[in-house]
Amino acid sequence: MTSLMLVAALAVADSRIESLIARMTVEEKVAQIVQPVFRKDGLAKAIAAAERGEFGTCIWFPVDAKGRNAVQRAAVERTRLGIPVLFCHDVIHGEFLTFPIAPALAGSFEPELFERAQSVAARQASAHGLDLSFAPMCDLAEDPRWGRVAETCGEDPYLTSLCVAAQVHGFQGDDPSAPDRVAACLKHFCGYGASRGGRDYHEAEISEWTLWNHHLPPFVAGVRADALSVMSSFNTLDGVPLTANRRMLTDVLRGTIGFGGCVIGDWGAVAQLVDWGFASDRAEASVRALSAGNDIDMVSPCYTNGIPAAIANGTLPMSVLDEAVRRVLRLKERAGLFDRPYVDETRLAKDADWCESDRKLALECAEKSVVLLRNDGVLPLASGGTVALIGPVAESRRELIGCWAAHFDESRATSLAEALRRELPNGTDLLVAKGCGMMGGVEWTVETDGSMTKRETPDGEDDRLWAEAMSAADRADVVVMAIGEGWAWTGENGSRHTLGLTGRQQALFDAVAAKGKKIVSVVFAGRPLALPEVYEKSDAVLYAWQPGAEGGHALARLLVGKAMPSARLTMSVPEDIGVLPVNYNHPSSGHPTLGGYREYAPASRWENRAWGSVPARFPFGFGLTYTTFAYSDARVEKGADGFATAVVTVRNTGSRAGVETVQLYVRQVACAAGVRPVRELRGFRRVTLASGEGVDVRFPISDETLGYVDRAGGSRTDAGAYKLWIAPDAVSGLELDLQR
Ligand code: NOJ
Repeated sequence: MTSLMLVAALAVADSRIESLIARMTVEEKVAQIVQPVFRKDGLAKAIAAAERGEFGTCIWFPVDAKGRNAVQRAAVERTRLGIPVLFCHDVIHGEFLTFPIAPALAGSFEPELFERAQSVAARQASAHGLDLSFAPMCDLAEDPRWGRVAETCGEDPYLTSLCVAAQVHGFQGDDPSAPDRVAACLKHFCGYGASRGGRDYHEAEISEWTLWNHHLPPFVAGVRADALSVMSSFNTLDGVPLTANRRMLTDVLRGTIGFGGCVIGDWGAVAQLVDWGFASDRAEASVRALSAGNDIDMVSPCYTNGIPAAIANGTLPMSVLDEAVRRVLRLKERAGLFDRPYVDETRLAKDADWCESDRKLALECAEKSVVLLRNDGVLPLASGGTVALIGPVAESRRELIGCWAAHFDESRATSLAEALRRELPNGTDLLVAKGCGMMGGVEWTVETDGSMTKRETPDGEDDRLWAEAMSAADRADVVVMAIGEGWAWTGENGSRHTLGLTGRQQALFDAVAAKGKKIVSVVFAGRPLALPEVYEKSDAVLYAWQPGAEGGHALARLLVGKAMPSARLTMSVPEDIGVLPVNYNHPSSGHPTLGGYREYAPASRWENRAWGSVPARFPFGFGLTYTTFAYSDARVEKGADGFATAVVTVRNTGSRAGVETVQLYVRQVACAAGVRPVRELRGFRRVTLASGEGVDVRFPISDETLGYVDRAGGSRTDAGAYKLWIAPDAVSGLELDLQR
């Protein structure tokens, strides 16, 4: 749709919306802004409630296009005003076919992959009747103890902004009302990633300077990409829960940032205003949330009673309610629901299927998400001999799928063991042994409401698994350890106070390592894990994250060298938990060479490579491959027009073709408005080079490359001195001076 057509269509829509609002009763209005949840067994309940006109939007769990249409028919054909329902759910990293989790896929440094992956997810989700996905996540990862870092694009605002915009395009396409698209929802506005101590649902304290330069840019990017909705976050900012934070939801989001869409409160968050101690009861909570600009009450349901009562007793003007209803109806218009309320039920069978091109995309995404952290020459695996694949993820498909996946089809994923059996060359034997469970002597199943069911492993099973693993290691030439943290301890409500392997896996690793065989560790996790022994004693380490349904294939191909690792870390990996936070883009201090931790002073691998370094074991942007690259001749070229370009020559110095992600970092030497980070990523290029081949990589330097955001949300670029680094990661590289 061209923008002219869009303006014309919106004008028609607006008059339809205004005429509806003029005819609605208070109860009909309130129904539009409450969002109940319907689970798999909730169809009859949903139809009855829709018929009674009790809700205008819902969280819809069932994969049931027919059932969804039946609910819709009740709303459209059997209510007075016939307003269609908006069906929502979390489509985070794939729907039926799962892709790698966001911090992994962002590590491809290829945001277009997000666009392609989310457009497959949108097609599959819309086929069973979803109209809106609660994604993309715009929060920045600050503290790996926080389980939800598994949903972020990592710690960097620039990379996250690009990945967010790509996801919005992936979900919505050029026309969000098209039948194979869903509306996007930017979440969680805002500061949730700064939740104190990595504890979920807690308070955040963020200065205006950090807010505008660090936490808000991904939301700004998502708004510019035309995301139709935003979700307010659970946390507080400046003591005020975001659900009722008028300054953030109305002044900043709608005023300064210019968001024109609908704000959805997070699950039960209006009711939680009482638990916070911010409102004395649910009636007050409703008024405070709606007046702040929180349009939809997800699940609680406070608005149902609270808003009509407040209108009746005069504590809430009708105009506030009307404005929220207007935003919800506009969202439905933009999502195409008034013109096309029903889904084509025949699509589900076809779109639930994984067509070959989707599967290939998931494989490409997984291959480009796995980070090679260390390789002493053992990878790619040589042919011949015996490989032992040991660890609880060896034969698990579920661990590949990862957290926050509701409708995935695990049966069609391929485990690492299955894939390796296929990919290892003839003449190489494969032994597979679990060794121990992911979580010790128990297995956990997580239900969609977050509750967990525990299964104890049978007596004697642990000893048997252990003995099998030791025997496999004894017979092997190379051991591939498939280890990590259980997926059920990642994602929402998945905070941890340790960053180690879960269950008995560290003991398993130690016992195998003691045998002196070559070890390749493949680490599956939803966060950076601090695994000093694993990183030190392994001959190679592949960081697999939660790589999705095609992760087994991807890893097998990477292990045997049919694919080349190319991903980079999107979060710095800490040496241990006491050094957190270790994000690379921290501000400088007045004592840049002092003030570190005593234990780290002489030992840290990365110390003092850059101004005021932090003790990360592996820094943001880092990742190896099976060839090597050299950077030389870094220079700033000034064009006749006065514009500068930073240039570097990058050469493949190894014997295989490979991909290098060349990164541009910036630091303003002196900024009177506030201290800027020691480095900030402001550009990157992925280059593919044949063995021996070299190329000049160029980064045009604009005001945007160098600038910052002031405390009122305005973009600024100062005249003065800047440092640039063209680098393979956030702490090394070639340094340049630039005068603006
Ligand atoms: C709570 C989570 O915080 C949010 O991310 C999610 O979208 C909603 N629940 C709905 O499931």
